[in-house]
Amino acid sequence: MDRRTFCASMGTWLGTGALFSAPDGLRAIAALAPQVPGRFQLRRIPDVAGGRLTLTARPTLADVGLGMVDAFTLNGSLPSPTIRLREGQSARIDLINELPEPTILHWHGLAVPEAADGHPRLAIPPAATYRYEFAVDQRPGTYWYHPHTHMLTAAQTYRGMGGFLIVESDEEAPLDLPSGQHEIPLLLQDKRLSSTPSLEYPRMGMGRDMMLGYLGNTAFANGVANPTLAVERTRYRLRLLNGSTARIFDLALSNGEPLVLIGTDGGLLEAPTPLERITLAPAERVDVLADFSTSAPGERILLRSVPFEIPGMMMGMDGMGMGRGMRGRMGRGGGVAPVLPQGAAIDLLEVVVMDTEAATAPPLPSRLTTIPPVDVSAGARRRSFRFDSMMMRHTINGRSFALDRVDERVPLGETEVWTFSNASGLPHPVHVHGGQFQVLSRTGGRARRMPWETGLKDTVLVLPGESVDVAVRFVFPGLFLMHCHNLEHEDGAMMSNFEVVD
Ligand code: C2O
Ligand code: CU
Ligand code: CU
Repeated sequence: MDRRTFCASMGTWLGTGALFSAPDGLRAIAALAPQVPGRFQLRRIPDVAGGRLTLTARPTLADVGLGMVDAFTLNGSLPSPTIRLREGQSARIDLINELPEPTILHWHGLAVPEAADGHPRLAIPPAATYRYEFAVDQRPGTYWYHPHTHMLTAAQTYRGMGGFLIVESDEEAPLDLPSGQHEIPLLLQDKRLSSTPSLEYPRMGMGRDMMLGYLGNTAFANGVANPTLAVERTRYRLRLLNGSTARIFDLALSNGEPLVLIGTDGGLLEAPTPLERITLAPAERVDVLADFSTSAPGERILLRSVPFEIPGMMMGMDGMGMGRGMRGRMGRGGGVAPVLPQGAAIDLLEVVVMDTEAATAPPLPSRLTTIPPVDVSAGARRRSFRFDSMMMRHTINGRSFALDRVDERVPLGETEVWTFSNASGLPHPVHVHGGQFQVLSRTGGRARRMPWETGLKDTVLVLPGESVDVAVRFVFPGLFLMHCHNLEHEDGAMMSNFEVVD
């Protein structure tokens, strides 16, 4: 590497506010990724395909770039393998628990029978096995899976369990979307690192972390800190998943080029939509195209979360002035980057354009798919859910989650309108099990449905003062969950059981 490149990238690195613990890390960094100081090669997540799978949960020593950490993995991989299933296929997945604690997995976004949904009451003890069987009766799209263990969802997810579940279908073939090396699932997360990298997750006490969620100081993608990715000069399909416990991202490219949104939680949109910024709350996914064909060889482009403010954010909970109080876990003063407040700028991925021939991408099809129209009859049943965070309690309609209490009984196959309203000073990404919903409208706050909330969704961000109406419909009877996907809020009992009744 010549001196100029080195200085330029040091500039980038220093200019971004030292996202990681520099003093201890610097030498190792230079040795591991000499071409880009301070950054580590993005990892390609291994794929597993076919309907018969075994996933073994176990403690694993894993490399996060800055060093080795004790992680919880599935099949030894950090992040967990990308499961690729075909629409219409039947899946049989065996979970083997080699962890020292109970666990259970949930297929986030999929409509599956009750017994396959990973409700926390189904958690298995150490050394036990759980068999999931379901039909992949699902639109092609970017789904995911993660632990759903009672009061341990945040810890097990933070420590490394969780990955993509991608449903594929021939329906997408004629669209000629980027595939193979040009299709990249990107699991975006933040972690709180100290000068000794570790994925340990503290017991949540009554404090800021319990209220705000466990915010980090370091960007992770696909299980490595501060990643970099070399790209060819062509169009890429990025499947972005926010797998953070609490961090909200407001995504943008540093070169000012748009991210072309083609899909959301439940698959493709009807038409591609170029966007300068996309807000992605925990558990949400977006499928975007990024075109590097006009970028110059050697150009460095950052996929970043740009700074944002949350109007109505609880006083003193916006992270202002917390820099000194909230440090990495060791907090010995030297070298530990402060925890980044919600809304702070974070560089998530550095893209380095390689010196390849520019492959001008074919024009995008103007129509990608057809979204089933929402059919909300005038007499549709309405339910409302109020999300509150007060006195260290996170509640829905004033109640904390109870494993066996049924809060709502919902008729099978009927379309209902559910209103999620945020009466608190904290953001709540609300998620419903049992399939996909459609966002109808938002009042208060941003007061509209955002472009990344079209299509089919299973998680919707509800900011302070907002009310969001969604149309839901369930196709399997049984007990399912609705909850905040800020995992500290979820484990803090901001969750509710509903029973779908035939
Ligand atoms: Cu992604 Cu109930 O969870
Ligand atoms: Cu879910
Ligand atoms: Cu919440």
